[in-house]
Amino acid sequence: MRKFFNPCDIGPIDKALEEAFAVKADPMGWKHLGAGKTIMLVFFNSSLRTRLSSQKAALNLGMNPIVLNIGQESWKLETELGVVMDGDKGEHIREAIPVMGCYCDIIAVRSFAGLTDRDYDYAETLLNQFVEYSGRPVISLESGTVHPCQAFADLITIEEYKTKPRPKVVLTWAPHPKALPQAVPNSFAEWMVYAGLDLVIANPEGYDLDPKYTMGAPVLHNQMEALEGADFVYAKNWSCPGVNNPADYGKVLCKDMGWTIDAAHMAVTDNARFMHCLPVRRNMIVTDEVIDSPRSIVIPEAANRVVSAQVVMKRMLESL
Ligand code: CP
Repeated sequence: MRKFFNPCDIGPIDKALEEAFAVKADPMGWKHLGAGKTIMLVFFNSSLRTRLSSQKAALNLGMNPIVLNIGQESWKLETELGVVMDGDKGEHIREAIPVMGCYCDIIAVRSFAGLTDRDYDYAETLLNQFVEYSGRPVISLESGTVHPCQAFADLITIEEYKTKPRPKVVLTWAPHPKALPQAVPNSFAEWMVYAGLDLVIANPEGYDLDPKYTMGAPVLHNQMEALEGADFVYAKNWSCPGVNNPADYGKVLCKDMGWTIDAAHMAVTDNARFMHCLPVRRNMIVTDEVIDSPRSIVIPEAANRVVSAQVVMKRMLESL
């Protein structure tokens, strides 16, 4: 496997899940694979779960993880081609990426959408430059449009907690004070559809996700209607994806607190499990009562980030 951006990169989902549960049962079982190998974890943005789970997964596989925080521990990097570098950015990615590639066997990159230039973000411009210039397999640790390690962990968690073969999974927008990227909901939608689950998406008008990721899943603008009979409620905020009006891309169009997941929302579900990728804004996205309830599985969901990362790294090590 040379890249991990989308579910198709991991192949048949049944096999990927089988492998995930094998890795979870015996985390050290493939420690020999990474002996003498190095993974570089490059962070252009903050992280708690992704940083720690990726390091843990690499260590479980016997790899040496190197973490680089761009701009804090490295030179600030220029990403645009053809510019006169007379500002505060001391190095260009045209040199920095191949140099990083010289020091490792796998590269994993976190670089959030800028939310100003939709074409730049949706072309995964920076991540593709890592693919082109590093000469190494590349993992997205959340990039312009996707967060596949999170979505794979979400799927593993749903597989563990589901009580029927094809559960109803509702991805619902919820309010947040800041403009957030669409990477998590994009990936969640495409992984749920790829896995054949019954996905329903609920979001206010103007927030419809790109159909490239939702792939025909029903989109409702009435949240309560969407939540009826749900087995899993996956809450997440995202900014305007700019599908219908590109000028609104990245904007906050709605802060309706009526979309916050509370006990009344959960009451119309089929005793659903509550999920969120974390970090979560309590009493914006979800009330304390819901996230602290026994139906909340946000911590096991975060724990599965090690499992998803480990399966991806294992596949890459096997194909080096
Ligand atoms: N869910 C997730 O990616 O968390 P972090 O931003 O803390 O890595």
